[in-house]
Amino acid sequence: MKSAQVGGQKIYPTTQGWGEEIEMLIKKIETALLDQISKEAHASNSYLAMASWCQVKGFRGAASFFLTQSEEERQHMLKLINFVNESGGQGIIPALQEPLAKYKSLVHAFEVAFEHEIATTKSIHELVDLTFSSKDYATFNFLQWYVAEQHEEESLFRSVLDLIHIAGDEQRNLLIVDNEIAKIRIKA
Ligand code: FEO
Repeated sequence: MKSAQVGGQKIYPTTQGWGEEIEMLIKKIETALLDQISKEAHASNSYLAMASWCQVKGFRGAASFFLTQSEEERQHMLKLINFVNESGGQGIIPALQEPLAKYKSLVHAFEVAFEHEIATTKSIHELVDLTFSSKDYATFNFLQWYVAEQHEEESLFRSVLDLIHIAGDEQRNLLIVDNEIAKIRIKA
């Protein structure tokens, strides 16, 4: 008997096939995972755009922070692609939406980044809900890594925003903060 492993759950067809309900459930979870791949790709590209803007504005610390973050988001995307592929689906590489290229200030760039993280957390939690209610425990388990990662990332961005708010608008202070942003990941 052939089995399928979609969304990390091994299932077997009945004599009548998979059954419409299971087919729809598999499709729903797979679609949600593909959607998350697209969101991680967009996050990676957005942070690259922020790194480029920071570099042009002379914020070298923030540019390096965002470059590292862009790389991390790419890893989040690759991890999802591998999981979908190993589960019998196919990780589709999404077309990239153009990220915002210009920011009003350093604080604005980090505010946009923080909003991204909050949206990602919401999206991961929705996926977790879906897999739990569908009894797809393998995917549910796989997603726990993302739950913990989002908690860490939100906290990291919140720390950076706190630093920038303390510095205020004074350029001299912002350059000191920029230097601290470069080190914040090491301390975290
Ligand atoms: Fe992969 Fe920061 O979300």
